[in-house]
Amino acid sequence: MKIAMIGTGYVGLVSGVCLADFGHQIVCIDKDEAKLALLRDGKIPIFEPGLDALMAANMAAGRLSFTSDLQQAITGAQAVFIAVGTPSRRGDGHADLSYVFAAVRELAAVLTDHVVIVTKSTVPVGTSRKVADLVKTVNPALDFDVVSNPEFLREGAAIDDFMHPDRIVVGVQTDRAAAVMQAIYRPLTDRGFPMLVANLETAEMVKYAANAFLATKVTFINEMALLCERTDADVNAVANGMGFDQRIGPKFLQAGPGYGGSCFPKDTRALARIGQDYAAPLQIVETVIKVNEEVKRVMIDKIIDLCDGHVRKKTIAVLGLTFKPGTDDMRDAPSLTIVPALVGQGADVRVVDPQGFREAEELLPGVTWYDDAYAAVQGADLVVILTEWDDFRRLDLARLSGSMASPRMADLRNVYDCDDALAAGFTYYTGVGRKS
Ligand code: UGA
Repeated sequence: MKIAMIGTGYVGLVSGVCLADFGHQIVCIDKDEAKLALLRDGKIPIFEPGLDALMAANMAAGRLSFTSDLQQAITGAQAVFIAVGTPSRRGDGHADLSYVFAAVRELAAVLTDHVVIVTKSTVPVGTSRKVADLVKTVNPALDFDVVSNPEFLREGAAIDDFMHPDRIVVGVQTDRAAAVMQAIYRPLTDRGFPMLVANLETAEMVKYAANAFLATKVTFINEMALLCERTDADVNAVANGMGFDQRIGPKFLQAGPGYGGSCFPKDTRALARIGQDYAAPLQIVETVIKVNEEVKRVMIDKIIDLCDGHVRKKTIAVLGLTFKPGTDDMRDAPSLTIVPALVGQGADVRVVDPQGFREAEELLPGVTWYDDAYAAVQGADLVVILTEWDDFRRLDLARLSGSMASPRMADLRNVYDCDDALAAGFTYYTGVGRKS
């Protein structure tokens, strides 16, 4: 099937590449000529393991191409996916739909034959219906369907998530549209991956509800961690004990410095706004947003405590800046709250991240960049593990402690064991939700 994909950002690119790998003919559309040139050259502008190789293979097989020519891309296409950004709107937390509607307006103006318009971007409940209204206004004679098909891709594991999904969700208004979506995803449903077919609003809601629930799970364990610290309980063991209960499950119970990224913060804010707009306030989601901010502040206090009450003129080595490992994404990363607070209080902050460089240099003024964890901790008063990159999971702790002015560690991802850290020469160690 020929499919056009509008937007070659994270979601559009991963979806386009994976759909091409299913055997579909995919044309990805973007306005950014420099980006298109890069893509045609087989290079990807984001860091996503395995994506460049899969893209190259599908380009070589003639199933995947990139263009800025919308007309050419949609000719003969049975479906057009909209995968443009929906960032948080400044000021009110609502999702900014201007890119979605601009793309739909342009698309509607050039369509002549029946097509299924698929919203892949994360959009508030009711948006797909607005998309349909807009298409009707721009091109009243057009025969078309709209579909909501939210994505559930984790950065760093996006290809695996696309190829082995827990579920595929499609929101439709007609059987005709459902049949097209079933044909698109047949390579997955034939292998037993479930597809939920529902109405437009339900599909849109599933996406927000799932992300908000996961953000709540993380925030719940982060709050439990704060209580564990005061009670002698160990949050890792508590999470294990909870996770054995199949109704709870073990995933997303890793305590840390707060959730971040391009999805949870934006989507929880947008969902909270949707609740307010419909006079059905989501008090749990609103609280999760607040507690997540509070968790980051508690981490700053923890670091200050470990530096005997102040960080002025203290040298602090921060390992990891991205919101999680396996990505170069800095959006809403806890480091963006924690590091500036330390710099602001007079600390000499050194930072290392295997991927965060390109973006983080502008975002974190006043820090010194290092390529290597051992070099960064040399002579430091404190080492902080902020992102659990594999590089920081296998550090030689004795070598680290031996080179520090004052060997102290704030392990905000619970990578190490307190006793091991102390045995390796650290004088103070603190994790999250565990006794130090
Ligand atoms: C998330 C969802 O997991 C995907 O299903 C969804 O498709 C995606 O958002 C999206 O809406 O596009 P992602 O933002 O890539 O994916 O990251 P996650 O792996 O879910 O992690 C989110 C945050 O929670 C990170 O800051 C991570 O460090 C934190 N986290 C996660 C924890 O602190 N503890 C955990 O146990 C799990």
